[in-house]
Amino acid sequence: MRMVLRVSFGTMAAVAAWLGPQPALAQDPALLDRGRYLVEVTGACGNCHTPMGPQGPVPGRALAGGMVFDEPPFRAVASNITPDPETGIGRWTDAQLARAIREGIRPDGSLIGPPMPMTLYRGLSDRDVAAMVAYLRTVPPVANAVERSVYRMPLPPSYGPPVTSVAPPADHPVARGEYLVNAVAHCMECHTPMLPNGQNDRSRLGAGGVEFRGPWGVSVARNLTPHESGLGSWTDAQIIRAVTEGLSANGRPLAPPMAFAAYRNMTQQELGDLIAYLRSLAPQP
Ligand code: HEC
Ligand code: HEC
Repeated sequence: MRMVLRVSFGTMAAVAAWLGPQPALAQDPALLDRGRYLVEVTGACGNCHTPMGPQGPVPGRALAGGMVFDEPPFRAVASNITPDPETGIGRWTDAQLARAIREGIRPDGSLIGPPMPMTLYRGLSDRDVAAMVAYLRTVPPVANAVERSVYRMPLPPSYGPPVTSVAPPADHPVARGEYLVNAVAHCMECHTPMLPNGQNDRSRLGAGGVEFRGPWGVSVARNLTPHESGLGSWTDAQIIRAVTEGLSANGRPLAPPMAFAAYRNMTQQELGDLIAYLRSLAPQP
C-alpha cells in the first residue's frame, strides 16, 4: 500500500517543485473548500492553535499558536501552523505537513506531543489530510515564534506504524458519524475517560468524566452515550443545539473548551451522521 496524497504526481508535482511547496493543491477548489471546512468547522484546529483573548480568538492571529496547556505531565504550547517560513510551517513540504498531522512526526523526526490528538488523527483519510494541507497553505502567514513545549512524562517512540493509506468511511450515516466524531472532530478525546498512561479508555467510549480547567473554572466532559445518565432521553434537536449553540438540554450555557463557535457551521448532513453514531454507542453508566 502507498500513501495516495494527491500531492506527489506528475506535472503538478513538477510545478510545485518549481514554485516552492505552495500552490499544487491550492489549485483544486473542491479540495480547498473541503480543507477549509475540516480545519475551521469540524476539526476546529483553531480551538487550540489560535491564541485566545478575553474576547475569544485574537484578531489577525488565526492558527498562529502560543496557547499554553499547563497540566501536571506537561506544559505544552500550541505550534504556529500558518505558512510563515521562519516561525510556522511555510518551509515544510505537503508530505511533511501531512505526516505531522497524521503521524505526529515533524520533518526533523521529533514527535509532536499531547494534547494534539494524534491517535485520532491517524484515522484521517488520505483525501482529508491532503485537503487540510491545501487549506493551511492559504491562510495568512503570521510571524509568531512560540515557546517550546516541555513534557515531564516520556513521549512514546511513535504513535504507531507509518500511516500508508486511509480510505474514506463507508457511505452510511453511522460510519460517516464515527469518522467525524473520532478522526476529525476528536469529540471522543474529550468525552472518553483517560487511563493513567494518558490514553483514552476505549472500553468506555463516550462515557465522559474528563475535567478541563481554565479561566471558566472546571468543566467536566459529559456522557455522550445513550445511557440515561448520558444522551438517552435527549431529542435530536437538543443534541444539535448543544453541539452548535453550546446549550445543555435544560438551556444551561455550556462552559469551554468545546468548540461550539466552529461546530456552529456544521452541515445538516454531518449533524445527522453525528447523532446516528452517538445513538449507536454502547450505553455507559
Ligand atoms: C487539543 C488541542 C489541539 C488540537 C485540537 C489541534 N492541535 Fe495541533 N498541536 C497542539 C499542540 C499543543 C501542539 C504542539 C505539541 C508539541 O509541542 O509537541 C500541536 C502541534 C501541531 C503541529 C506541529 C507543528 C510544529 O511546528 O511542530 C501541527 C502541524 C499541527 N499541530 C496541526 C494541527 C491541525 C491541522 C489541527 C486540526 C486538524 C490540529 N493541529 C489540532 C494542539 C492541538
Ligand atoms: C476540547 C474538549 C471537547 C471536545 C473536542 C468536545 N467536547 Fe463536548 N463537552 C466538553 C465539555 C467539557 C462539556 C461540558 C461543559 C459543561 O458542562 O459546561 C461538553 C458538553 C457536551 C454536550 C452537552 C452534554 C450535557 O449533558 O450537557 C454535548 C452533547 C457534547 N459535549 C457533544 C460533543 C460532540 C458531539 C463533540 C464533537 C463534535 C464534542 N462534544 C467535542 C468538552 C469537549
